[in-house]
Amino acid sequence: MQSSEIAGKARFDHIRYAQLWEDADVLCAALPQQPGATLVSICSAGDNALTMLLLDPARVVVVDLSAAQIACLQLRIAAFRALTHPEFLELFGARPSQRRAGLLDRVLVGCDAETRALWTALKPDVIKHGAGGVGKFERYFRVFRRFLLPLVHSRKTLEDIFVSRTKPKREVFLNTRFNSWRWKLLLNVFFSRFMMGRMGRDKAFFDHVEGSVAQHVARRIRHAAVTCDPAENPYLHWILKGGHGTALPMTWRAENYETIRSRLDRLDIRLGSLEAFVTTGEKADGFNLSDIFEYMSADMFAQVYGAVLAASNPGARLVYWNMMVPRRVPAAYRDKVVTRTADEARLKLLDKAFFYSDFVIEEVL
Ligand SMILES: C[S@@+](CC[C@H](N)C(=O)[O-])C[C@H]1O[C@@H](n2cnc3c(N)ncnc32)[C@H](O)[C@@H]1O
Repeated sequence: MQSSEIAGKARFDHIRYAQLWEDADVLCAALPQQPGATLVSICSAGDNALTMLLLDPARVVVVDLSAAQIACLQLRIAAFRALTHPEFLELFGARPSQRRAGLLDRVLVGCDAETRALWTALKPDVIKHGAGGVGKFERYFRVFRRFLLPLVHSRKTLEDIFVSRTKPKREVFLNTRFNSWRWKLLLNVFFSRFMMGRMGRDKAFFDHVEGSVAQHVARRIRHAAVTCDPAENPYLHWILKGGHGTALPMTWRAENYETIRSRLDRLDIRLGSLEAFVTTGEKADGFNLSDIFEYMSADMFAQVYGAVLAASNPGARLVYWNMMVPRRVPAAYRDKVVTRTADEARLKLLDKAFFYSDFVIEEVL
């Protein structure tokens, strides 16, 4: 959908995700490596739809139910056009900056009226946190970082996490420096089912988690701290320190900037549901489905899954994550796809966005 079509739609809701918390490296490795393909992506904050341009597709159809999330992508598009790469990193919060107000003003000149209105209202937050730090999700992380983390870890320990080490040394660091009794206590209190319920999460959401939620989180932290190298993890860096370290998400890396910029006109942005896209009669070769299936009942999931298959070319890949709720090809469609188990296993080990419990790659026969 063109930005002019977005105008006149219902007023903007709020931004939940001001940056993408799904690892673009594993996403791109999982999608078909087929120049000229038609790809479909859930928008969220837009970073991964932009990364998908690196696969040299004919187009990337980007869908999202939320106009505010689409406005995150619109801001990025205008920023790629108006800013140098170092300026982009400053505006979005990967790097500290004293000049975000001016950078934002320059970018907003190239935006449609609604995107401009939304981001103008957020200007004070952008100045403080960067445009990638203003969503509800990033705000939770900020509360955790500012008020809870200092109660359990010193600044020195938090710095030391990002020193590159061999895997055995990472294990020792986790056991002796990070997993202190204070940390374990925080984990158990913060992630108790009681607290999650109080914070507005439906407790049923965690029914599928093996053991306690705190145990699940501890397993995922081990993945981030030992299986992966924290020194190479921009997501962990943002959560614990705000901003990125030397490592950046794929979309934000210098070497990808010009290629993405030169392919921006291949984005086809549509405010609306994935369900709406799959009934247009268009076919695609690859889908980045984020973790949207978790938010549907099992029956609705099966229905939407069938519609996605009907909108797929042979060989198309469905790529998605699960955080808490298990979602994989529904029984009715098991003979229509093949699960790329070896690719999943390889990429799961590399997934730097460590909080997901599963990563799925299903290929249409
Ligand atoms: C499911 S959320 C998950 C966010 C994600 N974990 C991240 O790191 O950004 C991603 C986006 O999906 C959108 N969404 C959810 N269900 C959708 C649907 N059925 N069709 C289109 N967009 C959907 C939401 O509006 C949200 O912006």
